[in-house]
Amino acid sequence: MAVEARMAIGLPCGMAVVVRPFHANDAAACGAIVGATPLWQRIGLGAERTATLLAAAAERGETVLVVDDGGVSGFAWIDAHGAFGRSAYLRMIAVTPDRRSAGLGARLMDAFETIAATEDGHAFLMVTDTNADAQRFYRRRGYVEVGRMPGYVSPDVVELLLWKRVGAPSRT
Ligand SMILES: CC(C)(COP(=O)(O)OP(=O)(O)OC[C@H]1O[C@@H](n2cnc3c(N)ncnc32)[C@H](O)[C@@H]1OP(=O)(O)O)[C@@H](O)C(=O)NCCC(=O)NCCS
Repeated sequence: MAVEARMAIGLPCGMAVVVRPFHANDAAACGAIVGATPLWQRIGLGAERTATLLAAAAERGETVLVVDDGGVSGFAWIDAHGAFGRSAYLRMIAVTPDRRSAGLGARLMDAFETIAATEDGHAFLMVTDTNADAQRFYRRRGYVEVGRMPGYVSPDVVELLLWKRVGAPSRT
C-alpha cells in the first residue's frame, strides 16, 4: 500500500495489519479496549472481567482473533456454532477507541464471515438498538435485522438480531 494511502487511513508507515489468533498475553489489552468503551461500561463489563472471559473462551477452543497493527488494536470473539447450534455467531467485536474508523473492524468482520462461510453460510450477531454507529457498520456490510429481543441483556434495552448470508449452505 502506498505511503499516502497508509497515512489516509491513519496507519503508521511501514506497519502491517494482521488478524491473528488470540494469545493468553493479549487478554489485558483486549480487556482494556472493552473497559474504555461506554457501551460495556453501562452493563458493568470491565477490563478485568473481559480479559478473563476471553482467555477462558480461547482455552475452551472458541475462536478469538485479534487485529494487530504493532499492538493489539481490536478483537473478535466468535462462536462457530453459537447461533442455534449450527451457524456462526459473533459474540463480541471491538476496536480500541483511537483506531476506530480505520478499517480494522472490517478486517475482523472479514475473518468472521470467512469462518461463517465455511460453516453453514450464515453469520449472526446481536447489537443494541441504541448503538446506531455499530448498526450502520453492520448494515453497510449487508446485515439485516431478523429479530428484536427486549430485555435480553439488560432490562429496558432492546437487542437486535442481525443476519447475513455469507455463503451457500454447506450442510443440513
Ligand atoms: C463497531 C466497531 C467494531 C467498528 O470497528 P472500526 O474499526 O471502527 O470499523 P471500520 O473502520 O472498519 O468501519 C468504520 C465504521 O464503523 C462504524 N462505527 C461504529 N462505531 C463506531 C465508533 N465508535 N467510531 C467510529 N466508527 C464507528 C461507522 O459506521 C464507521 O463508518 P464511518 O467511518 O464511515 O463513520 C468499532 O467502532 C467499535 O469497537 N465500536 C465500539 C464497540 C461496539 O459498538 N461494538 C459492537 C457491539 S455489537
